[in-house]
This record gives sequence, C-alpha cells and structure tokens, in this order.
Amino acid sequence: MSVCIIYHSETGNTRTVAERLAAAIKGDLVAVRDLAGYSKMGMYLKGAPRAMRGELAAIEPATINVAGYEVVVVGTPVWAGNPTPAVNAAFKALVGIEGKPAVVFCTSRGMPGKTLERLQAMLAGRGADARGVVGFTVRDVRTGEGMDALVDLVRRSEKERVVQ
Ligand SMILES: Cc1cc2nc3c(=O)[nH]c(=O)nc-3n(C[C@H](O)[C@H](O)[C@H](O)COP(=O)(O)O)c2cc1C
Repeated sequence: MSVCIIYHSETGNTRTVAERLAAAIKGDLVAVRDLAGYSKMGMYLKGAPRAMRGELAAIEPATINVAGYEVVVVGTPVWAGNPTPAVNAAFKALVGIEGKPAVVFCTSRGMPGKTLERLQAMLAGRGADARGVVGFTVRDVRTGEGMDALVDLVRRSEKERVVQ
C-alpha cells in the first residue's frame, strides 16, 4: 500500500502518531514546517489567533505532490480549537488529491473544538474522498491508544479503493 502521511508538529505529539502510522503501514512521511518559526509563547500569542481565523501559514515544502499515492493522511495539532495555519496551508499545497481516499487525525489536550469538522471541510474542498477522522489526546499519544483505529481506517481506505 502506498500512503503519504503529511503532518505538522511543534512539540512532537502529532509527529509521534505520524511516525507510528508510517511504521505500521510503511507509509512515507512529509513533515510540514511553519516558516514563522514560533517560540513557545509565540504559538499562543500569534499562532493560536491565526488558527482561529483559519489563516494559511508560509510552509515548507510549498508543494506536496500526492499523485503517486493510493491514500493520503493529514495530521494536525489542535490550536485554539482549530487545525494549525501550517496544516491549512498544506491542504492548499496538495497536488493530485482530487478523488483520492484521505484520512485525517489531530492531537490535542482533549478539546479539539472545530478541528475535526474543519479538517473534513478542507478535504471536501479539495475534492478528496474523505474516509474518516481520528482524534488523539496527549494521553492517547503516551499510551498508544487509538493507533489501531487509525491504522485500520487507513488500511480499509486502501482496500475499498481497489474494490471499487
Ligand atoms: C498554541 C496552542 C493552542 C492549543 N490549543 C488547544 C485547544 O484548543 N484544545 C486542546 O485540547 N489542546 C490545545 N493545545 C494542545 C495541543 O493541541 C497538543 O499539545 C498537541 O498534541 C500538540 O501537537 P504537537 O506536539 O504535534 O505540536 C494547544 C497547544 C498550543 C501550543
């Protein structure tokens, strides 16, 4: 199965989930970097209001070509109840996402707010074939809880695509 796992992570939780998923399904990882380079304080003072406004960050890589993949996964931290500006930008940066099975996940302290619905909306906006969303708490990241559900969802997405 060829899976592209795109994620943004500032403090490592979303990266941990992305790396575990990549190990489980042999996916390729794309780490998206917010070029704002926030300090810990800056994430709250500047990043969180930008996330609430649904802004798009300047990111690296600026283009993410997923045309050669069968399934796309996007992971984001929750900032003030929303996906991060880097992930908003990552959706815009995707090339070849149209019609492709896609799964999204977020990590948070347990209050994801509008994040999951925003992620679904961005997938729909890019014409992806949205297969589901999985939310992880920081505790889940520590214990590994929820990983099986995410791995199953990604595996099922690929199988269903082949059957169609
Ligand atoms: C600026 C900022 C805003 C946050 N807002 C929320 C929030 O609204 N709800 C929540 O449950 N957690 C919130 N968190 C916690 C993060 O979502 C959580 O620690 C996440 O796992 C961080 O992902 P990362 O380690 O991949 O950067 C916030 C963290 C930061 C830095």
